[in-house]
Amino acid sequence: MASIILKRTNHKMPLVGLGLWKIRNSHCADMVYNAIKVGYRLFDGAADYGNEKEAGEGVRRALEEGIVKREELFITSKLWNTNHAHDHAKAAAKMQLELWGLDYFDLYLVHFPVALAYVDPKHRYPPEWWGDDKKSVNLQNTPFQETWGAMEELVDEGLAKNIGVSNVGGVLLVDILSYARIEPQVLQVELHPYLTQQPLLNLAKTLGIAVTAYSSFGPQSYVELGFKVDAKPLFEQDPIVKAAITRKKEPAQILLRWATQKGIAVIPKTNNPSRLLTNLDCTSFDLTEAEIQFISGLNINFRLNNPADIDPRLAIFA
Ligand SMILES: NC(=O)c1ccc[n+]([C@@H]2O[C@H](COP(=O)([O-])OP(=O)(O)OC[C@H]3O[C@@H](n4cnc5c(N)ncnc54)[C@H](OP(=O)(O)O)[C@@H]3O)[C@@H](O)[C@H]2O)c1
Repeated sequence: MASIILKRTNHKMPLVGLGLWKIRNSHCADMVYNAIKVGYRLFDGAADYGNEKEAGEGVRRALEEGIVKREELFITSKLWNTNHAHDHAKAAAKMQLELWGLDYFDLYLVHFPVALAYVDPKHRYPPEWWGDDKKSVNLQNTPFQETWGAMEELVDEGLAKNIGVSNVGGVLLVDILSYARIEPQVLQVELHPYLTQQPLLNLAKTLGIAVTAYSSFGPQSYVELGFKVDAKPLFEQDPIVKAAITRKKEPAQILLRWATQKGIAVIPKTNNPSRLLTNLDCTSFDLTEAEIQFISGLNINFRLNNPADIDPRLAIFA
């Protein structure tokens, strides 16, 4: 499987994985198990997705049947915003490992550079963005340096092999490097032809940080959530449709290849078992440079996943 070599550990991070956000709990174990059977090795989970236990069941079944060995898998999870304080971060990672039934994560990411008031998991899990009234967002004054220190200790203790950040821009990335004992190895961000993020990609490349794209299909994921998205589906955009017809591939595969051909990892999510193989097959063909440019020309800096839509004080991309 095509992969990216991560700095510091030289671990291979698969270029294609399965995103677990919105994978229904009722069939998450089966999806993960079936995905492993058809060749997926990377799973992108998070506390916030509420399906870590079920995902772990799928992994366990595949391990018990000898379909894969643990060291062949690359399990990613993320620290939620309510656990940014040092001790909470450590405890959260340990609890998430228990949910998955794992001894270590291959990659653990800080989900958002946003610290929210702690929520005891016994009280509510996943904690989500809002307080008990389901309306107010309660900020907490935890500097990112404290959170990153806890992430580094997870590496020291062997609980996370690699660590990184998500939804972080250049300013914070550069700041983290000023105090990091262990530098972030992966940056996971929203990235698709409507939001190409070229300056951020350039910075990550300069710093040797691997990039994972999320929401590769652009609006699709948010339409699924019931949001009205004011943009044409990427699947219907000319440069993508044309490349798909020429290659006898699906538009989804073209979108994934547009990223993977640039060395960016992708983690498409599907609840549809028949799409698992389609999405995995996005490194077996090449686009021409002209096609890549044509697709990149769709950029309108259109961000779909923005915490500022939840609360204006969370305008981390402003
Ligand atoms: N770090 C972060 O803050 C963050 C934020 C968002 C996402 N993520 C991660 O990135 C992963 C992927 O992003 P995403 O879930 O937002 O969206 P996505 O993978 O871009 O899109 C998922 C949507 O596309 C559909 N789809 C999947 N394969 C398809 C295909 N071959 N043809 C047509 N439609 C297809 C899915 O429907 P079906 O399910 O019906 O197939 C679903 O509606 C997430 O699952 C999560 O792991 C991380």
